[in-house]
Amino acid sequence: MIPTMASQDELKRAVASAAVERIASYFGTSAVIGVGTGSTADCFIDALAAHRGSIAAAVASSERSAARLRANGLVVVDLNDIDTMPVYVDGADEIDAGLSMIKGGGGALTREKIAAAVAVRFICIADASKRVAMLGRFPLPVEVIPMARAYVARKLAALGGTPRLREGFVTDNGNQILDVHGLSIRDPVALEDAVDRIAGVVTVGLFARRGADLLLLGTAAGIEEYQREYRRP
Ligand code: A5P
Repeated sequence: MIPTMASQDELKRAVASAAVERIASYFGTSAVIGVGTGSTADCFIDALAAHRGSIAAAVASSERSAARLRANGLVVVDLNDIDTMPVYVDGADEIDAGLSMIKGGGGALTREKIAAAVAVRFICIADASKRVAMLGRFPLPVEVIPMARAYVARKLAALGGTPRLREGFVTDNGNQILDVHGLSIRDPVALEDAVDRIAGVVTVGLFARRGADLLLLGTAAGIEEYQREYRRP
């Protein structure tokens, strides 16, 4: 039960527990599950610790999450060593009604996108503040190869955004991040395609072609569930 006037942290813990309950009941003890990155994913990892006998192992979307999983006594495996992953659980910086998301505020967008691509189902866990009518108020992270940074920034500006280098930040893959401000993302799939086509872009933090399949949204009134209605090819 979520207390009245729940704090954002309480809502994160509530959706994390709801996701663990579903995983424990849906996927059984032999499943390897994908685990995301961020403060909501941290709550999920902590909740998972109580069920460590119920899952075989986890794939982590960042070094940070891998370390937290291990500290909680969970086995972490390399994505290359597994054939299938039934579910990936992660937070979002923004999520819209079609369950398209902006991700990468924590800088782990590339590994998150890889894990999401492999997983059969993507469960997004988020507090109510993450639900938006249109993506773009949160700056869109774009991971870039360092030598391409200035070129990619010019191309992103031509798409209507204002890119800013995330100062002093290096991704787990040794790259840099441009955070693109000022976008109103009316067609998330089209923008994801357009940014993906820029040479030097490693990953754009738009998760639209492969959005979430299920959103567990923590609100003051309780956990709300939203299913993705369609999947674009
Ligand atoms: C990490 O790179 C991000 O994609 C996070 O999943 C996202 O930023 C949500 O983070 P919080 O749960 O901390 O808001």
